[in-house]
Amino acid sequence: MSSVKNRIEVMHGVNLDQLGRRNAAHYGTLTLDELEVRISSAARDLGLVTQFFRTNHEGEFVERLHRLEGLADGIVLNPGAWTHYSYAIRDALELTEMPAVEVHLSDVDHREAWRRESVIGELCLARIAGKGPDGYREALEHLRKELSA
Ligand code: DQA
Repeated sequence: MSSVKNRIEVMHGVNLDQLGRRNAAHYGTLTLDELEVRISSAARDLGLVTQFFRTNHEGEFVERLHRLEGLADGIVLNPGAWTHYSYAIRDALELTEMPAVEVHLSDVDHREAWRRESVIGELCLARIAGKGPDGYREALEHLRKELSA
């Protein structure tokens, strides 16, 4: 088995598949397909390999986290609204014991008060918000550093 740790699981949760028709002031105009292309190209530049997962079903998100052992070395996740209240996703993320970075396209700290809460934040190396698609590149840089340490 290779000792190189470069496999990144990029996970998008509820309503992120609707990018492109959501409020452009918060989320920009890229579709999720276009965003994933940007992310995989940024990853390639950093010597990382991405695999993508998206779902609108919380249980599927949880089960994907359950299955990640041996399939990925790190996680970039934007769980959408689940970020703010899903203890189920929080517990499943903890089970992976993998380095993870939380990303939000929009500036969640300067929107409605409920968006400031993150139940996964304490498990993540970093929380990046309000930087649009560039936030994912930053998340990958955090993981690159962590995985080569
Ligand atoms: C989001 C922010 C969440 O508050 C929201 O529910 C989303 C997207 C973001 O990327 O900015 O669906 O995670």
